[in-house]
Amino acid sequence: MMKIEKADRIKNLPPYLFAEIDRMTEEVKKKGKEIIDLGVGDPDLPTPQYIIDRLKDSCQDSVNHHYPSYSGMDDFRISVTRWYQKRFGVKLDYKTEVVSLIGSKEGIAHIPLAFVNPGDQVLIPSPAYPVYNSAALFAGGIPYVMPLLKKNNFLPDLAKIPPQVARAAKLIFLNYPNNPTAAVADKKFFSEVIRFAKKYQIIVCHDAAYTELFFDDYRPISFLEVEGAKEVGIEFHSLSKSFNMTGWRIGFAVGNSEVIEGLGKIKTNIDSGVFQAVQLAGVEALEGDDTWLKEMRKIYQDRRDVLCRGLRKIGFKVEDPKATFYVWIPVPPGRNSIEFASFLLNEAGVVTTPGVGLGEYGEGYIRMALTVSREVMNKAVERIREVL
Ligand SMILES: Cc1ncc(COP(=O)(O)O)c(C=O)c1O
Repeated sequence: MMKIEKADRIKNLPPYLFAEIDRMTEEVKKKGKEIIDLGVGDPDLPTPQYIIDRLKDSCQDSVNHHYPSYSGMDDFRISVTRWYQKRFGVKLDYKTEVVSLIGSKEGIAHIPLAFVNPGDQVLIPSPAYPVYNSAALFAGGIPYVMPLLKKNNFLPDLAKIPPQVARAAKLIFLNYPNNPTAAVADKKFFSEVIRFAKKYQIIVCHDAAYTELFFDDYRPISFLEVEGAKEVGIEFHSLSKSFNMTGWRIGFAVGNSEVIEGLGKIKTNIDSGVFQAVQLAGVEALEGDDTWLKEMRKIYQDRRDVLCRGLRKIGFKVEDPKATFYVWIPVPPGRNSIEFASFLLNEAGVVTTPGVGLGEYGEGYIRMALTVSREVMNKAVERIREVL
């Protein structure tokens, strides 16, 4: 028998906690308990019909059956620039400052390959979307953890990064509105990031996947709105959460042309772009009448209110998120995130994400996603109340 030995880069990945949660969920299901899943960050609402229709029509056209261009169709990239102008007042050159992605995850996973040499530091937040860490490791980079702490409004304290680390750093990942903490960033913070990046020559990769999910009168900003941002970095964006298109696999990166070019170079050697019919559906999403988005935000906001109010009533110290569809909840004193998430799953049949699964500084919290109906959300709160 041949021994199949995995490469170190796979062996060195942290254990995938979510597989364990899936296993436990299956066990609870087998016992006959109905599960309420607040664990996944996948919208329950469907993709709007006009976007689906554009895909259908585009599929019929054989022009779209070929290999797409590596960097994205002109039509798609132009739509991206129009959308950035309309939404953020940011001007972009579609030829050099935009690249299509097979979902923003793909770009995030590939960017270190273009800029990080083995041994370079990569600054990653904790807790965070886990792909920043694995992407850094795959490129041979050394992740340096920036804690996101409540006392700093879940923004990294750049002054705490030792100068020798900053000098050895090639890239910094940031994400606002933030998954999992739901924190938001303002121009002042982004300006600090730009100063820091210039000082130490660090490429900024801002993940803006959640800018369109906002509540009340808050409006998330783009990193690129801030003076000097384009000199130091790029922004990843996604149609997944903005337009309920997670399964479609389309996103994009925008910003500094040299950084976009580097990412493009990696992609040319790995993938062959996004199916053109999907890109044209993306054009429809970015340019079509999006008044329905207001309705969608109202639905999430209503669920947020049900969940946060409900949790506060039963003693949780939880704040209303201003954006994203996540709620970041401190676990009751004396408990830890894995133990408390297991307790909620086993006793209440409610799936949540233990904070520590998203990084060591996520300990002490669980994450709940607003991706079930108001009725189900109410039921989840009721069940938690019963078991506490
Ligand atoms: C912070 C963050 N960035 C990026 C992504 C990836 O989104 P997609 O690849 O669907 O564009 C996600 C998905 O959950 C996310 O939470």
